[in-house]
Amino acid sequence: MHIAFLNPQGNFDPKDSYWTEHPDFGGQLVYVKEVAIAMAARGHQVDIVTRQIIDPEWPEFADQVDAYPGVEGVRILRIPCGPKGFLPKEQLWPHLGTEWVPAMIKFYETEGQIPDVFTAHYADGGLSGALIASALDRPFVFTGHSLGAQKMDKLNASRENLAELEERFHFSRRILAERVSMEWAGRIITSTYQERLEQYGHRAYRGAIDPQDDTRFAVIPPGVNRRIFNPDLTEVDKDIAERITAALKRDIDPERRNFPIVIASSRLDAKKNHLGLVRAFAESSELQKAANLAITIRGLKDPLRQYDELSSEEKAIMDQIVALIDAHALWGKTLAFSLNNQAELAAAYRQLARQRSVFALTALYEPFGLAPLEAMSCGLPAVVTKNGGPSESMVEGDREFGILVDPADPDDIARGLLRTVGSPEQWKTLQDVGIERVTSKYTWERTAEGYLRVLEDLREAAPRMGESKIPSWFTNPTPENEIPLETLANLYF
Ligand code: F6P
Repeated sequence: MHIAFLNPQGNFDPKDSYWTEHPDFGGQLVYVKEVAIAMAARGHQVDIVTRQIIDPEWPEFADQVDAYPGVEGVRILRIPCGPKGFLPKEQLWPHLGTEWVPAMIKFYETEGQIPDVFTAHYADGGLSGALIASALDRPFVFTGHSLGAQKMDKLNASRENLAELEERFHFSRRILAERVSMEWAGRIITSTYQERLEQYGHRAYRGAIDPQDDTRFAVIPPGVNRRIFNPDLTEVDKDIAERITAALKRDIDPERRNFPIVIASSRLDAKKNHLGLVRAFAESSELQKAANLAITIRGLKDPLRQYDELSSEEKAIMDQIVALIDAHALWGKTLAFSLNNQAELAAAYRQLARQRSVFALTALYEPFGLAPLEAMSCGLPAVVTKNGGPSESMVEGDREFGILVDPADPDDIARGLLRTVGSPEQWKTLQDVGIERVTSKYTWERTAEGYLRVLEDLREAAPRMGESKIPSWFTNPTPENEIPLETLANLYF
C-alpha cells in the first residue's frame, strides 16, 4: 500500500531536531515516525506529510522532500501552508483547507500516484483527512492524540474565561475540526479502551461520535522503543552503574547498599504522586526492611539536598518529599540521582534489575503508561497505578504482567511493592512475563500491524462521508464565515 501520514504541526527531519524542546515536537512526532518506519519495514510505501518552513531560524524544514538516513520506504514531504516562517499549531487553521491540502493534492497528482489510504494525526491532520476524503475519494483513519475538550477541562474553561482561552488556543476551530475528523474518519484509533470511552465520550463530541459504537473505533496501543529499552548492556551502562553506586554510598546506610531499590523516574509533577509513594515507604516498616527508595531527577547531582535549580512547582514537591524523609527518619534509606535521557534511563533500569529492584509509578491517573512498559522491557518489574491505561496493559483476563495498586492508598502501594521486592520468586516471574508482555503487544511493530489491518480493511471501501458539512470557514476563512464563540459554548457547556 501507499500510505500517507497527515501531520501538519511540528515537523520531521533526519535529526529529529527540537524534539521535547518545543511543545509542538512532543510524543506525537515519535509516534508517527516509529509507526511509519515499522510500516515501511513491512514493504509499504510511506509518506509523512508535514508543513514546509522556509525560515533561517528553522533551517531543517525547507526541502520539499527528505528522508531518514538508512531507512527505506519513508519520505518526509513538506508542503507549503501559509506564511513561510514557523507557526505554532494553534495558528495553522486558516491555511490547511486553503493551501496545505490543495497543494498536497497537486503534489500527488503531479507525481501521478495518490496514496491508497491516509492516517490523520491530531485535529489539524483529521480536518485535512476529511478534506482529502471529500476531494480524492480516499479513506483515512483519525488518531486524536490529545483532544481539545480535555484540554479545555484541564484549563478550567468557563463561560467567563472562554473568550480569553479562544484568543490563545482557538478551541472553536479545534473542537469543530475534531468533530469533523470523528464523523468522517473510516476508523478512530485510540491507545486504550478507556481513552475511547472517556475522551470521545466528552459532551463536546456528542452527535459527532458514539463512543460505544465498536464499528467506528480500533484500540491500537503505542509501542516501546526496543532499540533503547531492552535488557542488553550498552556503553552507557558502566557510567550509570557508577553513578548509582556513588549515590548509594552518599545516601544509603552501608548495611543497606545491596538492598533492592524501588525507583520512581517520572518528572516531578503533583499528578505523578511521588508523595503517595514516599508515604507508602514511610508507613511500612516491612517495606523499609526489604528495599531502599530512589527518586531520579534530571540534571541534579545531589537532588535530595540541592534542588534550588528546579521550577517552583517541582521545588514544592521536593520540599514535601524531604519533609517526609525527615519526619519518618528515612535518611539512609532514600537515595536520589540524575538520569538525563532515555539511554541513561534504560541503563539504570538494567542496572537496578540486577539487584532485584522494582519500578514504581503511583500517579493519580495515567492516560496510557508507557514508562512502566519501558522499565519492564529492560527487565525491571513494575508496580503501577490502577487508574487509567495500566489497567489494560498490566492485566489481561486472569494474567498479571505488572502489579496494579491504588495510588490513594499507601498501604496498597506498600503491599504491591512487597509482592516483588519481598519475594525473589515472584520478582523473577514478573520479570519474565513483563518482557514477554512488551515484546508480544507493546512494540511499534505491533502498532504498525494494528494500523495496517485497519487500513487494509478500509482500502477497498468507499471513504466515509460525514453527514454534516465541513464548516465553510476551513476552506474560506473570511470574517463572515468565522465560527461564532457561541457555537463552541453550546457544544462545550
Ligand atoms: O506531541 C504530543 C502531543 O500530545 C501532541 O499530540 C500535541 O502536539 C501536544 O502534545 C498536545 O497538544 P495540546 O496541548 O494542544 O492538546
